[in-house]
Amino acid sequence: MKLLLVGSQGQVGQELAQTLPCLGNVVALSREHLDLSQPDQIAAAVDSHQPDIVINAAAYTAVDKAESDATLAHQINALAPGLLAQAAADCGAAILHISTDYVFDGRQSYPYQETDATSPLGVYGQTKLAGEQAVQAANPRSLILRTAWVYGAKGARNFVKTMLKVGLEQRSVRVVFDQVGTPTWAYDIADSITALLPQMVDNDSYGIVHFTNSGVASWYDFATAIYEEAQAQDLLNTPPTVVPIATAEYPLPALRPAYSVLSPLKVSALLNRPIPHWRSSLRKMLRELARG
Ligand SMILES: NC(=O)c1ccc[n+]([C@@H]2O[C@H](COP(=O)([O-])OP(=O)(O)OC[C@H]3O[C@@H](n4cnc5c(N)ncnc54)[C@H](OP(=O)(O)O)[C@@H]3O)[C@@H](O)[C@H]2O)c1
Repeated sequence: MKLLLVGSQGQVGQELAQTLPCLGNVVALSREHLDLSQPDQIAAAVDSHQPDIVINAAAYTAVDKAESDATLAHQINALAPGLLAQAAADCGAAILHISTDYVFDGRQSYPYQETDATSPLGVYGQTKLAGEQAVQAANPRSLILRTAWVYGAKGARNFVKTMLKVGLEQRSVRVVFDQVGTPTWAYDIADSITALLPQMVDNDSYGIVHFTNSGVASWYDFATAIYEEAQAQDLLNTPPTVVPIATAEYPLPALRPAYSVLSPLKVSALLNRPIPHWRSSLRKMLRELARG
């Protein structure tokens, strides 16, 4: 099987570059090899590799910046995935595309299922939703995996790394308590995608699937856990005090869903194995950071 990985330098992309080779020959393309803001390059890049599956881990992920940069966000999150899916279809390949909990408005109070109505609150979510629709319209053999609150040791920027940096510099940190979701380790996403791909192809299981780690946390809970685990692994001597604040006290350009827990029911049945709890995966990620 030949796999074409797009976005190989992102936090999920770097993990996929490690997990996918057990399935076959992987060609990994970073932005340097394929710039998704150049739509005319996409079809030729896919065609030249003749893959069996395209995996798209690239995205415009700067949620706040997207509010004032909607054209570029739309190009990378909506137009490019549609072109990738079309190019995959043209050479007989399936596509796995990654999407987000931000397609929901967060007004629900129980886990979002794949069939629940979408209603993104900001430009990032709107462009990601448009990307899902473009992928599905262009290639019937597409699987959209929605995930949330992603962090990884290899990521350039994420909440865990920000909290660790702040923890070394400040005595206290204010973190919102009224947004709830599930922190999800990039390695677990890559590992699950690697388990899902053969099923996707062999059993024709396409459509949308939600994957996060298990459990539920607020950003405040997550920050507190980061400091507890980091201290246990000697990454921090004296953790800062974590002060819970309301979202309204920390205004940002983009609105975020207040509740974006994704239902694990469908993916659990597909994977047929337990999904790691967010806290145990956080511990493993910090161990990876501590090893350096
Ligand atoms: N991060 C989260 O909390 C989160 C939550 C829910 C869903 N997701 C989704 O999960 C997927 C993976 O996210 P992630 O956290 O791994 O994101 P990430 O670390 O920001 O990686 C995104 C990758 O996309 C690449 N990229 C951006 N613009 C590009 C362009 N014009 N051409 C080619 N590549 C481009 C980036 O390249 P450079 O390395 O050159 O910048 C980067 O490698 C995305 O679909 C994202 O929407 C993420």
